[in-house]
Amino acid sequence: MNRLVVLFSGRGSNLVAIQDAIVSGPLAGLARIEAAICNRVDAGGIERARALGVAVEVLPSKGRARDEYDEALLAKLREYSPDLIVLAGWMLILSPGFVRSFPSRIVNIHPADTRLHQGLHGYEWAMENRLQETLVTVHLVDEGLDTGPMILRAPVDLRGATTIGEVERRGLEVEHEVYAKAIAQLLSSLPKGA
Ligand code: GRF
Repeated sequence: MNRLVVLFSGRGSNLVAIQDAIVSGPLAGLARIEAAICNRVDAGGIERARALGVAVEVLPSKGRARDEYDEALLAKLREYSPDLIVLAGWMLILSPGFVRSFPSRIVNIHPADTRLHQGLHGYEWAMENRLQETLVTVHLVDEGLDTGPMILRAPVDLRGATTIGEVERRGLEVEHEVYAKAIAQLLSSLPKGA
């Protein structure tokens, strides 16, 4: 069974979707969440995840220098020996040293086509640019900002979506489906025991 550690900072809807896909979906029998780590004490996802039986650890990042925090996070992660680290709305940029500690073992979901838009506010960007369709991207994390190799992209139909709420609702629906699929695909291709 592949060991996942999920990192999140907020609402946690992707974390919930991954747990659902483990219970009955593309990740059933393939993976389990060893722990979910959250860097914000007030994140809504903490209670949502715990209600599903996911072990959540809160490791607050506020007021801590990035390198020092990443060291603490690294130590925490090593306790769980993850096969894959899954970023699910993780709002901190990981330091290059951290990324190098888990080569090709960190995956992220981005609410836009990473070739066209990197960083925050992917749905706002799609709306401002009046896109009829945007592409959600699952990619490996490298040392850049949303520059790692793509695993899966999936289209979100934005025709007729006139509010940011609607754009985001449609996008998240696609994210939740594509993330579990991409993780399953990635786990099936990982060398074992690396
Ligand atoms: C998602 O839109 C994801 O693509 C981005 O951050 C958001 C997290 O949402 N990286 P949630 O916390 O999983 O609901």
